[in-house]
Amino acid sequence: MIPNATAPIGVFDSGAGGISVLKRLWTLMPNENYIYFGDSANAPYGVRPVEEIRALTVAAVEKLLSLGCKAIVLACNTATSAAAQDLRATYPELPIIGLEPALKPAALSGGHPTVVVMATPVTLREEKFTRLTERFKDDCNLIKLPAPELVTLVEQNKMGTPELAAYLKALFAPLKETRIDCLVLGCTHFPFAKREIKALLGAQVKLFDGAVGEAKYTKVVLEERGLRAPLEAKGEICFLSSDETKLPLLRQLFDFEL
Ligand code: DGL
Repeated sequence: MIPNATAPIGVFDSGAGGISVLKRLWTLMPNENYIYFGDSANAPYGVRPVEEIRALTVAAVEKLLSLGCKAIVLACNTATSAAAQDLRATYPELPIIGLEPALKPAALSGGHPTVVVMATPVTLREEKFTRLTERFKDDCNLIKLPAPELVTLVEQNKMGTPELAAYLKALFAPLKETRIDCLVLGCTHFPFAKREIKALLGAQVKLFDGAVGEAKYTKVVLEERGLRAPLEAKGEICFLSSDETKLPLLRQLFDFEL
């Protein structure tokens, strides 16, 4: 397939979380068309064996390519760590933009901060994140915090509920005596729980997520390859899910104030 500048950008996540990235892409490039595919029928990915995540991600990317996408944005830290390398080897010409926890800006925010990285167990365990922590281990005091149930709570649209607040309270209980300077939301579902997280930890904790960075990088890559849609074009978004009952949630989260 010869990439075509007016073709849509495929945005993929294990479920609804990648909408936090789609929102940033849309703000930055409203002239582009997007096909968002959330694999909610198989979410959460972050507790599955890595081979399974890889196979699910490859299948999702193939689906987006069959719909004519010119580039793929992996709006999922977990799918990126499991499958980005293989996908790039299979499709060397295709722009594939991946995501990793925003440890760098947090670690370099000054004063040797204590940085908590919240992500799925797979993201925290995989080699990609291990390499990242190696780079910044001298700049901060790093604490890894797996939070797989938060993915399910967001998929179930539990934002603003006592159930979500109680989960977060229990999750952070072991860190009660720790002064947290920075919290990295290393899973694209987590920004939707930002309000509750801030209420629990207080406004002094700086939050970081990779969505804006990924959107900016996508723009750069498309520009470099001559794949930007005409600037005067008016883009559209097509929402797809492997669980059609989740389509209203995808649209609702798109309007969620981040
Ligand atoms: N949203 C995904 C991420 O950024 C993972 C969610 C899942 O475990 O399915 O890591």
